Amino acid sequence: MKNNRLIIVSYRLPFAFETTSGSTTLKASSGGLVTAMKSLDFKGAREKPVWVGCADFSRRTWEKHKHLLNDDFEYVPVFLDRKIQQDFYNGFSNSVIWPLFHYFTTYVDYQEKDFVAYQKANEAVSEAVAQLMKPQDIVWVHDYHFMGLPRLIREKKPDATIGFFLHIPFPSYELIRILPQKCKQYLLTGLLGADLVGFHTNDYNIHFLQSVQINLGVQHKIWKINYQNRLIQSDAFPVGINYSLYHDAYDNADVVEERAALKNAYKDNKIIFSVDRLDYTKGVMQRLDALEAFLQRYPEWTERLTFILVVVPSRDEILKYGERKVMIEQAVGRINGKYGTLIWRPIVYRYGSVPFPQLLALYTACDVALITPIRDGMNLVAKEFVAARKDHQGVLILSEMTGAANEMSTALHINPMDENEVADQMKIALEMEPEEQARRIAIMQRRLKEYDVKKWAGSFVESLLNMQSTQQIEP
Ligand code: UDP
Ligand code: G6P
Repeated sequence: MKNNRLIIVSYRLPFAFETTSGSTTLKASSGGLVTAMKSLDFKGAREKPVWVGCADFSRRTWEKHKHLLNDDFEYVPVFLDRKIQQDFYNGFSNSVIWPLFHYFTTYVDYQEKDFVAYQKANEAVSEAVAQLMKPQDIVWVHDYHFMGLPRLIREKKPDATIGFFLHIPFPSYELIRILPQKCKQYLLTGLLGADLVGFHTNDYNIHFLQSVQINLGVQHKIWKINYQNRLIQSDAFPVGINYSLYHDAYDNADVVEERAALKNAYKDNKIIFSVDRLDYTKGVMQRLDALEAFLQRYPEWTERLTFILVVVPSRDEILKYGERKVMIEQAVGRINGKYGTLIWRPIVYRYGSVPFPQLLALYTACDVALITPIRDGMNLVAKEFVAARKDHQGVLILSEMTGAANEMSTALHINPMDENEVADQMKIALEMEPEEQARRIAIMQRRLKEYDVKKWAGSFVESLLNMQSTQQIEP
């Protein structure tokens, strides 16, 4: 990768501008994609990588405040027409692909105009990418917003090296069948414009290959698809984290201070912790049901535990997200009212993003991390929690419906729908001996350390370059 310039393309840029009382500062974007790409170290690269994304700020704001950015990347914001951006992002991306690919079929709200906007946005971004491309560049397209992009770039630059990585699940072909024919065709042929298509797990990869076979009638052989005289490789690359960043943070002065404050505030109680974006896929309501089942089954834990629930704002213009916030807040209020006492409330709820030192203090002060998505492509929070436990303490309760569950064999695996099972696992976690906690954490840490984010990106780009050189010989 040293000799090739990398062009990263994702909907979300890793920053936003925030203006309060007349002064503008940078705010970090949330989510696994941004965390993964920001963790990479490009210091040895000959040319600075470029990050192309959609602007959620005006050209004027950009020109005025771009000097605030660090210089790790050259950022290229694409300014879409406001209405197109809304229909593309809130509409087809987050009200069709997102719910469908997470198996929430009843949340799918298909509108023709949104699909038109999705195509227009992909077209506009492909123009922007093609304009800045030089020979030898590697284009790495990320996530479901840009499934049409590989083909559109390929049409403009036939010899380009293009990789695509999907950060969410790729569902069974039965789910893909639900889409109107023109959408299926657009998304699948769009991906086949890449040289390499990557997924978090082998299951997602197999689902993709089956969808291509069933919907386009295109066969595959040993993870390779022969389509329009080109070979496309499709494979699993489970994303890792920047292990040492999370592990070493245990001793950072600000993390130590925040952790001490938390331990002091909750000193007589065990802490259960969770943090997710406000998203129906994350299973926050099921988590609250499980907490209630726990309090009912094990009343001896009254006044002895605190559940710190952090919910990070996300996609709040979409009805299903706004509704979820109301549901969560009502449930928190109800449970605190029903099970709390005059001197104790079971849930401490925070709606907002948390800065790194506070997040790390929470990861390292808690006794149990409770992660219960109904579907999740990977779930980096689970990995970050385990990596952060330099003290080898803490128990991870993890939904079997996350991509991360495949790699975290010594977590307590649960089915998020089964509130009694989750409640029982909470009890097991809270009562687990320190030696057993250490044994489980150590096994998971070994894997996370070995397959870190650098290895993930390195093996993706290496496979991409191999594929590109095969391309020049084989067809
Ligand atoms: N995170 C964040 N802001 C916060 C809290 C957490 O950006 O206020 C990060 C968290 O550390 C993790 C990512 O957001 O790296 C969430 O990734 P995950 O894969 O768990 O879920 P996603 O949000 O991508 O669905
Ligand atoms: C998930 C998606 C990312 C997205 C992130 C945050 O991780 O895979 O593509 O950036 O959620 O969501 P948002 O809609 O705020 O970008």
